[in-house]
Amino acid sequence: MTDRTPMLLIALLTAAVVAVPATAQEKVLNLYTARHYQTDEALYANFTKQTGIRINRIEGGEDALFERIKNEGANSPADVFITVDVGRLWRAEQAGFFARLRSPALESRVPAAYRDPQGQWFGFSARARVIAYNKDTVKPREIRNYEDLADPKWKGRLCVRSSSHPYNLSLVGSMIAHLGEQKAEEWVRGLKNNLARDPKGGDTDQLKATAAGECDIAVANTYYIVRLMRSGRAEDKAVAQKLGVVWPNQDNRGVHMNISGGGMLKHAPHREAAVRFLEYLASDQAQAYFANGNNEWPVVPGVAIINPELESLGKFKMDAINVGLLGRNQPMAQRMADRAGYR
Ligand SMILES: [Fe+2]
Repeated sequence: MTDRTPMLLIALLTAAVVAVPATAQEKVLNLYTARHYQTDEALYANFTKQTGIRINRIEGGEDALFERIKNEGANSPADVFITVDVGRLWRAEQAGFFARLRSPALESRVPAAYRDPQGQWFGFSARARVIAYNKDTVKPREIRNYEDLADPKWKGRLCVRSSSHPYNLSLVGSMIAHLGEQKAEEWVRGLKNNLARDPKGGDTDQLKATAAGECDIAVANTYYIVRLMRSGRAEDKAVAQKLGVVWPNQDNRGVHMNISGGGMLKHAPHREAAVRFLEYLASDQAQAYFANGNNEWPVVPGVAIINPELESLGKFKMDAINVGLLGRNQPMAQRMADRAGYR
């Protein structure tokens, strides 16, 4: 045995799986998904019950699934790819993964801001990136806009995760879209200068640090706040209780939104099943499941959710920009962050 044997074995096994021909009659859908929520089980079971189409689900990390689809190429058995953050959808689009799908059902149900104009990907749930503050040290209306995050008054008081995370690249991407390159770059520099510490951890870590007084304000996606509110652990609930939430830019363009979504792959062997599945994800019933699974909002307007903690966040004005533009701005956003020394 050499070190290379396991790799060879894996390669052979992968090849064997790919070589199985898919028949048109077979009622099956191969779903590659980077979502891993318990509640999604009911979502899939319901689709199979409605359509008789069995779902073969391959779950994996964002990057692992991306690499897998790339390596499988034209032989990929994947019909639908689902991931979180528009930056990752955009990356998949750029890699040429998706088919261009015209679906009147999806076009009428999913708002234009949350889907690719060419039908390569569709958002199915939405999250907002908000500012949280420590209620003991910050007054409710002391910070109003994303622009304020660069105000020197917050020097040494801000916690944000790494610049290279897609959530932040999308946020910087939206600043580029709204302020222009020069002002966005100044903003990134100002934000970097306000950091209370070198970026570490995820959004939840920034919220915890803010509740603990290590910083006064933090940037986080809404579902992380709701997750703390709904947690069975008393210490998580205590973190949520210490925090106030600011909906940024309510007097102007609205809060920066992002999506979780997916699309049909270019080489999908079961195209009809793929279209039915994507259309199903935009149905009222699936929308509620899909969003509740991660404390997000349905993208289809008017769909009822049962999530009192999420609803307790209230109503807010959303940025109407097409989220695809944020993905497109990500490489420039990363270069700006690098130049500012914000890692
Ligand atoms: Fe997340």
